[in-house]
Amino acid sequence: MLQEEIAGIAAEIENIKPKDAESAEKFRQNYLSKKGIIPALFDRFKDVQPEDRKEIGRLLNILKQRAEAIWKEAKELSENQVAQGEAIDFSAPGIPFPSGNRHPLSIVADEIREVFNRLGFTVAEGPEIEDDWHNFSALNFPEEHPARDMQDTFFIDQAPEMALRTHTSSVQIRMMERNKPPFRMIMPGRVYRNEAVSARAHCFFHQVEALYIDENVSFADLKQTLLHFAREMFGTETKIRLRPSYFPFTEPSAEMDISCTVCSGKGCNICKYSGWVEILGCGMVHPNVLKNCNIDPEKFTGFALGMGIERIAILKYQVKDLRFFSQNDLRFLKQFSIGK
Ligand code: DAH
Repeated sequence: MLQEEIAGIAAEIENIKPKDAESAEKFRQNYLSKKGIIPALFDRFKDVQPEDRKEIGRLLNILKQRAEAIWKEAKELSENQVAQGEAIDFSAPGIPFPSGNRHPLSIVADEIREVFNRLGFTVAEGPEIEDDWHNFSALNFPEEHPARDMQDTFFIDQAPEMALRTHTSSVQIRMMERNKPPFRMIMPGRVYRNEAVSARAHCFFHQVEALYIDENVSFADLKQTLLHFAREMFGTETKIRLRPSYFPFTEPSAEMDISCTVCSGKGCNICKYSGWVEILGCGMVHPNVLKNCNIDPEKFTGFALGMGIERIAILKYQVKDLRFFSQNDLRFLKQFSIGK
């Protein structure tokens, strides 16, 4: 009985021929594991009559060795196949990995940086949490200037002298304090204002500041830089116009308009039928600002300018709502596949 069963199993295993890791493991579980068929046969050995024990024991051992050999061979074979790559089908189509897009603000910031880089401007950065000196006082803001008001600025309760910077002009001061002119720098970064969030205003946005200080820098240099920038950013047909303005840290100060990118100056609802859209503030650095940074205003002059990156992006891509930039809605973000 037992002898016949052993012979049956011995014949059975010869026909199985497991050929990969999975079937080798299945074979092991079926025949060799603790609850498998062969150990079960061994368990019955204790009931074998003494005169049959020698022969049955021999047959059992042969069966077990043979099963182990089959299993081992199959296992090694499957491991070799994997090692040699035979089990991997290189012609199978790959699993597509969707690549993301750059954020539209990053695309525009990079473009601005590239235009200024080609003019010899390098990039500098400063902290988003600023003190009153760098954000206001050194920039020649009078004590009672409305920009210092609680309504515009996020002050920090635990440190009354500190605030979230309201503009990147603060980085100008940090650069001028630390370095000796000449310098040509742009300073991109995030800024904060205490404003109600709407389609046209946000409590945080991004700016790029530019600063050029050297001997004999004139307003003509500023204007030529601005014209070059506008043409590089918005196309060679773009016209610029400077309007007198006021900023505490520049004198004279101006705001720059470009001919409307949507209607090319003919008049549309983007430019409110004026043909012009405002894109930045600029001017000659105020002598008081240079003095505050220990730069001799008799020897050095320079210009500064500051623009909102969102504003440029809105004009370039005709985005209708400022909130889209920070909502992370993929339906919006996926449209900006250009850029690196
Ligand atoms: N800091 C100004 C703002 O946030 C922008 C600005 C205007 C920067 C004139 C300048 C400048 O450097 O010269 O509105």
